[in-house]
Amino acid sequence: MGEFVVRGGRRLDGTLRVHGAKNAALPIMAASVLASGPVTLEGVPRLRDVDVMTEVLTALGATVRWVSHSSLVIDPSGINEYVIPQELMMKMRASIFVIGPLLARMGHAVALQPGGCSIGDRPIDIHIYGFEQLGAQVSETEIGTRLDAPELQAGLVHLSYPSVGATENLMMAAARTPGETRIRNAAMEPEIVDLAQFLEKMGATVRGAGTSDIRIVGQRELSGVTHTIIPDRIEAATFMLAAAATGGHVVLENCIAEHLPGLMGRLRDVGCRVEERDGDVVELTTPEKYKTTPISLHTGPYPGFATDMQAQFMAFLLKVPGVHIISERVFENRLGHARELRRMGAQIVADQRVALIYGGRPLHAADVRALDLRAGAALVIAGLMTEGETVIADREIIERGYQDLDRRLTQLGADIIQR
Ligand code: EPZ
Repeated sequence: MGEFVVRGGRRLDGTLRVHGAKNAALPIMAASVLASGPVTLEGVPRLRDVDVMTEVLTALGATVRWVSHSSLVIDPSGINEYVIPQELMMKMRASIFVIGPLLARMGHAVALQPGGCSIGDRPIDIHIYGFEQLGAQVSETEIGTRLDAPELQAGLVHLSYPSVGATENLMMAAARTPGETRIRNAAMEPEIVDLAQFLEKMGATVRGAGTSDIRIVGQRELSGVTHTIIPDRIEAATFMLAAAATGGHVVLENCIAEHLPGLMGRLRDVGCRVEERDGDVVELTTPEKYKTTPISLHTGPYPGFATDMQAQFMAFLLKVPGVHIISERVFENRLGHARELRRMGAQIVADQRVALIYGGRPLHAADVRALDLRAGAALVIAGLMTEGETVIADREIIERGYQDLDRRLTQLGADIIQR
């Protein structure tokens, strides 16, 4: 596995255009399985996870090809398989997003139970429960969980937790099921709204996306369409926090501020100036010096503070004097980056769910490791704000969710290379 080498202590300053969102592109790529003709997706980020989803769709019989640097054409007409290859499920849990579309298109789907990962067990019980409410039979086989639904039935599903993936999987299955399906306690993330817009273009009717009560009226035939992926709010947050952590200044284009509730306010609380312009430009200017401002936050389902920017925010808080508290309430084990940050001298006390961060104290360069893609991004931020050479191992894990990270940070004045 490769590394990022960061020589920190430099202020980031400049303008970047945010890429399309990984967590919108992956479910929407999966939703192309529902279409009767080719789907063109624009603004698709060039990421390892997008490559894996491409492998999944190809293994099922679809054709996928890049027609420009950020546009994909997916033709699902050749799909003749409903077993998701085990090695791809192991590579990327989001492969699970094709179960709903396969059930609706083929009447069957077989997926290995995705293994847990560094941030938690990642069960799929809520997905399975939802498919059963729509008439699917579930059985365990030696190669994984098999779902059979020769005729999916529209119905009511009340989710025990507003799972993003379960909401998306069920929306996709319902989009190709005649009748009205209602999802209560649904996830409300912007990526859900983007998927809903895609399904509506294909011919389904979706009401309530972005709220906890979504109604989908499905159609047997859904057409191939063209769709542009929404901006990646987590990539935007990562660059904003990198600039804030280095005392810098950044202008982010293709950045929708309202998709980042909880971040702008807190950056302003510690003295940053955050200006939102034209609906999709955000400019961040940092103060000469951060004043002592104890910050306390907990992560939660949207519009709560996004768990996917928790690690990056923790790294930033090391710059802000005060005792800060972060409570991770979405995943059961997503504070592992605290241990890696301590290797850089960070004073953080953490268990699996809560971290106490003593900010405003000196850090030193060190050799560290990316545990998951967001933890890895946090270590890059910590390296950028610290004099000396920090080496972050397992670069490929970070590249699952960040396109050209070193090149784009270099554009902002960072000294970062990959090896
Ligand atoms: C999506 O994962 C994102 N991934 C994650 O981003 C993100 O952290 C997460 O939503 C929460 O916002 C993609 O969109 C590809 P969940 P997902 O189902 O769908 C539990 C990143 O960094 N749960 O909302 O898997 C689960 O264990 C990635 O880009 C069940 O118990 O998230 C977790 O504790 C990481 N049973 C919580 O719910 C289930 O059947 C939230 O999971 C499903 C989930």
